[in-house]
Amino acid sequence: MKRTLKAAWRAEMSLARAACAARDDAEAFRHLERAHILGQRYFLTHWATHWWMLKLGLRRADRREIRGQIVRLVAVIPGYVFGWVPKGNTGGADVSAIKPMPIPADLEALLQHYSVTRDVTVRILVLTALAVLATLLLLR
Ligand SMILES: [Fe+2]
Repeated sequence: MKRTLKAAWRAEMSLARAACAARDDAEAFRHLERAHILGQRYFLTHWATHWWMLKLGLRRADRREIRGQIVRLVAVIPGYVFGWVPKGNTGGADVSAIKPMPIPADLEALLQHYSVTRDVTVRILVLTALAVLATLLLLR
């Protein structure tokens, strides 16, 4: 993860945690949505963002959000393995988990070189190479 992107993700998470501590759930969720947009390409940042969305959902006793975030915490794994995430998706249970969404203008520069197609292609090549290696080892 590029340093500038990681710093932006951390800043959004920090603002989310501060809003959470101040019991401003709407503001906390807004920053978590922005953190999701920035961090969903990477496993730990993606997972951590959904974890905090789940924590917020639990605090609000929001059943839809709780269910949605549990599903998304699991879905982070195949999303990372296959390199596919819906670019721009805000991550809350109020939107489809697979719908690409417009990226806010102030975050656009941080994600301008990000290509979902490139990530998926790289993952397919790596997984194919691993499958070939495993097959060769089994046939020895
Ligand atoms: Fe997500």
